Amino acid sequence: MPGRRRRDWELPSSQVTPKEAFLDRRRLLAAMIAGPAAASGLLDVPAGSSQEVAADRYPASRNPRFVVDRPPTAREWATSYNNYYEFGATKRVAAAAQALRASPWRVTIDGLVERPLVLDVDDLLRRMPLEERIYRFRCVEAWAMVVPWTGFPLRALVDLARPLQAARYVRMETFLDPEVAPNQRQPWYPWPYVEGLTLAEATHELAFLATGMYGEPLPPQNGAPLRLVVPWKYGFKSIKSIVRVTFTDVRPRTFWQEVVPHEYGFWANVNPQVPHPRWSQAEERLLGSGETVPTRLFNGYAEWVSGLYRGLEGEPLFM
Ligand code: MTE
Repeated sequence: MPGRRRRDWELPSSQVTPKEAFLDRRRLLAAMIAGPAAASGLLDVPAGSSQEVAADRYPASRNPRFVVDRPPTAREWATSYNNYYEFGATKRVAAAAQALRASPWRVTIDGLVERPLVLDVDDLLRRMPLEERIYRFRCVEAWAMVVPWTGFPLRALVDLARPLQAARYVRMETFLDPEVAPNQRQPWYPWPYVEGLTLAEATHELAFLATGMYGEPLPPQNGAPLRLVVPWKYGFKSIKSIVRVTFTDVRPRTFWQEVVPHEYGFWANVNPQVPHPRWSQAEERLLGSGETVPTRLFNGYAEWVSGLYRGLEGEPLFM
């Protein structure tokens, strides 16, 4: 994000591999070496592998409350055009991300809670009611997609943790392991990746913990085994590969706030009328078709979420 403006979402659809070829290549790609592959353009990376968590729980049934008025983005796009800075600062990080092992995976829940917990993600998935939701997704870089996510409401995890009265925020953290994610050796980034929500946002029914997409477990490049999806906010809020959830009374200082404080804030709600300091947010480019369409307030979820921000008008809600 910082200082770069790539136009590689404009890749023509002719370069996107048909699904059959994609599936045939799964085994081959599983054995691929990450480095050279990562440098070679749009990649089809196995959606499934030995790292899959609770694979027998997919596909989950679709929740009809959460559908959108655009067709889903081709899976090949959503799984090969990614932001995952732990694995590189380009969009072509999918091959490198195959180094991530999503199982076994522990998630620590701590801070201002009645019950601090360490959960195995496989157990967590078996306890949660998995469902599919189709959400819009809008990156701060002005590309957008529509994804069928599988997962469960973040609220279910909050209920499990039983936050104390004093808790105001939920702070989330990605794994830290430079052996797996070589970019975590870059000292100018404040690793690990951190994001946060207010408790009111975290318990809103749209706030979702995704464990899968397109009817299968999440591939590593999309944040396996557990990532946040908050569709009314810019995509950088949707933190990947979560290992810790901390309830706190202090507003978390987030990864991108630390890196470029004048460009990225805590709230990051989508608003077409508030430009990024370096580009307009009025329009967005749809991954796959390349079509440009108007950006919508709160990414089309204003009716659902604007009530969360009443009385907070003095805050920088849209950066
Ligand atoms: N989470 C971690 N840990 N590291 C990242 O670099 N990038 C964010 C977000 N979550 C990021 C992350 C950004 S900028 C975006 S737009 C989305 O992930 C991209 O999600 P996707 O690759 O599944 O489309």
